[in-house]
Amino acid sequence: MKKILVTGGTGYIGSHTLIEICESTNWDVISADNYSRSTPKTLERIQLITEKPVKNYPIDLCNASAVKKMMEENKDIDGIIHFAAFKSVPESVASPLLYYHNNISSLVNILHAIKEYKIPNFIFSSSCSVYGNIEKLPVTENTPLHAVSPYGYTKQVGERIIQDFTNSYPDVKAILLRYFNPVGAHISGKIGEVPVQRLDNLVPVITQTAIGKLKETTVFGNNYNTRDGSCIRDYVHVSDIAKAHVDALTYLNTNKNAPPYSIFNLGTGSGVSVMEMINTFEKVSGTKLNYRIGARREGDVEAIYSDNSLVKKTLGWTPKYSLDDMMLSAWKWELNMKKKGA
Ligand code: WQD
Repeated sequence: MKKILVTGGTGYIGSHTLIEICESTNWDVISADNYSRSTPKTLERIQLITEKPVKNYPIDLCNASAVKKMMEENKDIDGIIHFAAFKSVPESVASPLLYYHNNISSLVNILHAIKEYKIPNFIFSSSCSVYGNIEKLPVTENTPLHAVSPYGYTKQVGERIIQDFTNSYPDVKAILLRYFNPVGAHISGKIGEVPVQRLDNLVPVITQTAIGKLKETTVFGNNYNTRDGSCIRDYVHVSDIAKAHVDALTYLNTNKNAPPYSIFNLGTGSGVSVMEMINTFEKVSGTKLNYRIGARREGDVEAIYSDNSLVKKTLGWTPKYSLDDMMLSAWKWELNMKKKGA
């Protein structure tokens, strides 16, 4: 493996994956990110942590000629990790066309580039949102797909596009990683989630409430059919998710008879409720959280968590960070952002 293109490289998971690649491999890496949901400051933070220059192409991946120009300048790419996509469930319910255009057009342009420039390895950022409301838990990779939000459906359609593409074009191998709920921040505290434009996800809402940026956290419903009435999710540390991408590329690099595409759940395998997340935060931070119980949020599923046995068996990946690590690293990052005046 010589050179990897990471699209969405200054986003939350993309930036942590760039760091993981720089810290645990000798691969060259470049990023393509137009900062529509991130900030150039993240690139500086990545270079500060890795002490390596990372070139970013600030292009819109929906612009086919911009993608072609970037590929012309980088003809030695061995693998592409495609993170670039919008990912807010509520935003996608409010603006479905924005999501279908951005998430699907960018993917199709990347797949065209893979064929034209004969890129042999492709990793796709998918999501547990493809499962929608679940009958039987935990979900395995064979659980039927019923995305309920436009965001989740862009990932479900994206997976099908990739499957059809790899069936028609045998010179690329693809791995589709279905993330559960990525949370937390890099252990150094020097990089983490930077909610740009929207703040929907639970953990940054909790830390921004605790730091005083938000007045209170609203728990979106505590009348679900769960152990404490609040929704259940499978939270997984963002650095564990990042490591899985290196493991996936290493697997494709060393297994020439890998199938055209493989799909893996990336979760810890345990479900945690919103109230349990709040209690864990208060425990590790020593800070009382100001929250109230509010109405349910449209597009939310009641409970979902993964069966992660397939990824453990095939890629040898297993999450190493605990829920305490997730919440404490998120809090450390929030405190550092405050110190920096962010
Ligand atoms: C988690 C829980 C909310 C905010 C995320 C990503 C999506 C995908 C799947 C990767 C839910 C509750 C939230 C708040 C709350 N990940 N909540 N108050 O919706 O599961 O989706 O994971 O692809 O991209 O968005 O995550 O953090 O928004 O919500 O009570 O202020 O927290 O109801 O139960 P979600 P989330």
